[in-house]
Amino acid sequence: MAITTCVFDAYGTLFDVAAAARQAASEPDFAAIKDSWPQVAEHWRQKQLGYSWLRAVTGAHDDFWQVTQEGLDWALAKTGHDNDPALRERLLALYWELQAFPEVPKMLKTLKEAGLNTAILSNGSPAMLDGAVSSANLGDTLDAVLSVESVGVFKPHAKVYELVGQRFGCATSEVLFVSSNGWDAAAATGFGFTTAWVNRAGEPMDRLPWQPAHVLQDLNGIPELAGV
Ligand code: LAC
Repeated sequence: MAITTCVFDAYGTLFDVAAAARQAASEPDFAAIKDSWPQVAEHWRQKQLGYSWLRAVTGAHDDFWQVTQEGLDWALAKTGHDNDPALRERLLALYWELQAFPEVPKMLKTLKEAGLNTAILSNGSPAMLDGAVSSANLGDTLDAVLSVESVGVFKPHAKVYELVGQRFGCATSEVLFVSSNGWDAAAATGFGFTTAWVNRAGEPMDRLPWQPAHVLQDLNGIPELAGV
């Protein structure tokens, strides 16, 4: 069946999650992470995701802003920066205005001009996603911004992927789901979407019961995969 609906993960896929630590590290006030910012960013992301999965399997849901702060606190402790409240505050503020990857605006515009539905489906809270979408100026090229907060459980719970059909009234086979998180793309394959894993860093394939249908290095190839 032809693709009618392109759905994107937000953090790491449309928005560069490492940008917060990279940006802070370039500011004179936060020279303390000039060298360690890649480790801060990596630990922050890994713990943020790990905590989201643990909350999903235990039913102890809180929103993504909470786990984003908890992940950062662990990362700052791990890298020896837990006595720097100004750094914590700056990193968290930057998370609300993450840059989109450079190819994102044109790619979304191409999909919209071809008449496809476009959406974000993200762990992010509605307020976080509003902040990111408006600071990257993507609002005009997205038909919907779907947050897990409407079902109260994080990805990769099936209830999250079900939000797409509920919003657009489309079959799973009409959906191209795009994520830079290998586990998210894999789980979405298991759910029934056609999937693309954006593997910018050349990571190995996740060892899971499902695999993404397509693997790309960036988002430039998405319109072609969607049949545009
Ligand atoms: C999201 C995280 C998983 O945006 O990147 O849902």
